[in-house]
Amino acid sequence: MKDIFTAPFLSEMRKTTANMYRLGWDERNGGNISYMLEESEVAEYLDLTRVIRTIPIGFSAPELIGKIFIVTGTGKYFKNVESDPETNLGIIRIADDACTAELLWGYRDGGKFTSELPAHLMSHMARLKKDPENRVVMHTHPTATLAMTHVHELDDKKFTHTIWEMCTECIVVFPDGIGVLPWMVCGNNEIGIATAEKMNDYRLVVWGLHGIYGAGKTMDETFGLIETVEKAAQLYMMIAHLPHKNTILDHELVAVAEAFGLTYRKDFLNL
Ligand code: 13P
Ligand code: ZN
Repeated sequence: MKDIFTAPFLSEMRKTTANMYRLGWDERNGGNISYMLEESEVAEYLDLTRVIRTIPIGFSAPELIGKIFIVTGTGKYFKNVESDPETNLGIIRIADDACTAELLWGYRDGGKFTSELPAHLMSHMARLKKDPENRVVMHTHPTATLAMTHVHELDDKKFTHTIWEMCTECIVVFPDGIGVLPWMVCGNNEIGIATAEKMNDYRLVVWGLHGIYGAGKTMDETFGLIETVEKAAQLYMMIAHLPHKNTILDHELVAVAEAFGLTYRKDFLNL
C-alpha cells in the first residue's frame, strides 16, 4: 500500500486550501471543499474495508452510495490543512443506508466533515446529473464577491449581467451564469436544498452576505470559476461609484459568446 501523504488528491487539497487562505478568502474556518475520488485511486493508499468510525450525515444521498470524498473538517482552518492534513481533512464513503458517512481516513482529533456537507453533497448530486464528470464542490468567502452582495441586487440575471460586463472573459468562463441566493442560515439542509436547486442550472452559486459555491470537473476548473467571479467583483467594487465612460455592451457579449461557440444565457442579456 502506498503512503497516503504522497497521493495526488491529498496534495491538491493541501495546495488549494493554502492558496485560498493566502488570497484572504478563507478566514478562520471559513470555506470548505469536497472532492469525489475514484475508488481505485483511494484503494492504492487505504484499506477500503477498514472503517474508522461512522458519522450520520443528517439527510439521504441515495445517488452517492459507495462514493468516496475527501472533505475539509468542520471548524478547521484552511491555513492549517497544508501542515496537518490528517486532522483537518477526512476521507468518507457514503454507506449503503445513504444517511451515514464511513470515515476511512482523517479527522484525527475526533472531528467531522464540514457543517456544509448538505450543500456539498446535494450539489454533487445535482451537478452529476448535468455532467457525470463533475468531481469538485468548493465553498469560500472571497472578499469582493461578498462585498458586492452588500450593494448589488441579489438576482440571478442582474448579478450575472453585472459580472459579465466587468471583463470580457467572464461570459466565456461561465456562459451558464451565476445563481444567487438571498441571505439564509447556513450549515443546514435547507440551504443545501436551495443551493442544489440553483446547481441544476449553474456551476456557480452566490450566497448573499456569505460567500460563493463553485462546482467543476477538477480543482483547477472549480477554483478558476470562483477566481474569475472574484476578479470581476473586485473591478465592480473599484468602479461602481465612479462615472462609467465605457462598458461592454450586450451585443458585444453576444459577439464574444458566438466567437467562442458558446451556449450561453441569452435571456440574461437585454437585447
Ligand atoms: P465549516 O467550518 O463547518 O466548514 O463551516 C465554514 C463555513 O464556511 C460555513 O459556511
Ligand atoms: Zn461559509
